[in-house]
Amino acid sequence: MCRNTFVAVGVFSGALNILLLSGSMFMLQVYDRVLPSRSVPTLVGLVVIVAVLYAFQGLLDLIRTRILVRVARDVDDVLSTRVYDALIRPPFGREASARGLQPLRDLDQVRGFLASAGPTALFDLPWMPVYLALCFAFHVWIGIAGLVGAVILLAVTLSTEFMSRSPARKVAALGALRSSLAEASRRNGEVLQAMGMARRMAERWSEINGRYMAAHQSAADVTGGFGAFSRVLRMALQSAVLAVGAYLVIREEATAGIIIAASILTSRALAPVELAVAHWRSFMGARQSWRHIGDLMRRLDSNGQPMPLPAPASDLSVEGLSVAPPGQVRLVVNDVRFRLEKGQGLGIIGPTGSGKSSLARALVGVWPPVRGKVRLDGAALDQCTPDSLGRHVGYVPQTIELFEGSVSDNIARFEPDPDPAAILAASRAAGVHELILRLPDGYDTPVGEAGIDLSAGVRQRLALARALYRDPFLVVLDEPNSNLDADGDQALTHAILGVRRRGGIVIVVAHRPSALMGVDMVLALNGGQVQAFGPKDEVLRKVLRPAPARLADLKLVPDVIGSVP
Ligand SMILES: Nc1ncnc2c1ncn2[C@@H]1O[C@H](COP(=O)(O)OP(=O)(O)OP(=O)(O)O)[C@@H](O)[C@H]1O
Ligand SMILES: [Mg+2]
Repeated sequence: MCRNTFVAVGVFSGALNILLLSGSMFMLQVYDRVLPSRSVPTLVGLVVIVAVLYAFQGLLDLIRTRILVRVARDVDDVLSTRVYDALIRPPFGREASARGLQPLRDLDQVRGFLASAGPTALFDLPWMPVYLALCFAFHVWIGIAGLVGAVILLAVTLSTEFMSRSPARKVAALGALRSSLAEASRRNGEVLQAMGMARRMAERWSEINGRYMAAHQSAADVTGGFGAFSRVLRMALQSAVLAVGAYLVIREEATAGIIIAASILTSRALAPVELAVAHWRSFMGARQSWRHIGDLMRRLDSNGQPMPLPAPASDLSVEGLSVAPPGQVRLVVNDVRFRLEKGQGLGIIGPTGSGKSSLARALVGVWPPVRGKVRLDGAALDQCTPDSLGRHVGYVPQTIELFEGSVSDNIARFEPDPDPAAILAASRAAGVHELILRLPDGYDTPVGEAGIDLSAGVRQRLALARALYRDPFLVVLDEPNSNLDADGDQALTHAILGVRRRGGIVIVVAHRPSALMGVDMVLALNGGQVQAFGPKDEVLRKVLRPAPARLADLKLVPDVIGSVP
């Protein structure tokens, strides 16, 4: 698609460049034909012809820019959703977060360049030799003047590129640092205010900002300097051609018309070079960004598109599962194996940093396993598409974010046509229905960054409702009760028992023992390894038996004794 369009733009550019000669030709005719013959009809005829040519020229230019803007839009259409996918896909999640939203910015850069005057300069560049040849056709000296000018301008372009490369890189790096610091400060504004860190953070920011500005200035000095030089050079060149022409006229080797026409022609010939100098920076940037996007797409494609998964209904088996955070080699979960039948509930306990959350992420497929498999009804998670898997999985992460939208949008996982009955069922199952009714606009209350501030407990229960929406087979809850009161605990236990009763499997990472009420199995994790797995009472007894010193690092253990029935 793009190739044909670019061929069309090339053809348009060709026609345009031929039409661009009309001004010089008109002048040549006026000086050499109309003025000596003093013929008004000839002049009128020429004016009409040149007016028509100008109209065509304007039209072609307009169409050419419009085509390029649309190409830019098409490129964005084709790529933007895939780039967005790449941003949130876990294998690149870490790299993506290291580079922040860079892939999106890359795409913007490519689109911005395509829609700018940059590409037209590239299309006009090949015409430069034609113009120069015409200059030579007028007179060899005029041609030489033009050629020398072109060579100097090209040299300026290349030195601009060479000299500005490292300052530009510095600007980009400092710019990224600056915005990430500003973003982190904005997000953690409360902390900065409350603990008097605001002043120190402001100093840090202003230090980085100062370095960014200095780098920016030196980069701008380089490009600006060369830009000014090339602009002046072009004007000087035009005068030089005029002078050469005048000399030739005095020597009676050329007509007056030729001087003017040649001077216009040389400046035409050099215009694309000057445009190229002006757009060089963005061209290089766009090329770099295009490469990054290409790399990203190739890695995405190599993952292939697996088959959709039939709805699982009987069991979950975890076989020799080892997990490392994306992009790292250190295993944080090591050789975990267990099996759960439908209707079972598993509590995962263990000290802080023992890998509970990492195991939970691997169970729902957000972190791909380093070794081993997670299977639902025998189908490994990596054999199914995230979309089809998502329908069978409910997940409450340890830190909860709601998205920009209403309460019901969030519970319905932003389905385009959500089922109100299913939303109600999920919020009832999570015991959050009454709480939602008390919000200002009930289910339509806006939440997320621009919405109302919900308490941590309400957010947690909304996240539970989102996890339970449309009764997924596997429900994984990572410390779902860390902000809950007694009512919330009861609702949670109720929800856990509800999932089990309807034949689902529920896994709860427990922080407080109240969350273990609804489960029948327990897995104790320590240092990423399974310490014990089995029926709840058995495991708790086993884990509790070691010396009291060991109890200290099982953070839930002391109250377990008293509160688990
Ligand atoms: N996104 C991440 N990138 C790199 N390392 C991580 C990441 N998340 C967790 N880890 C590491 O994995 C190990 C296990 O962390 P994990 O969050 O799974 O522990 P946890 O048992 O859930 O702890 P807690 O009870 O505090 O929630 C830790 O050493 C942690 O540093
Ligand atoms: Mg955790």
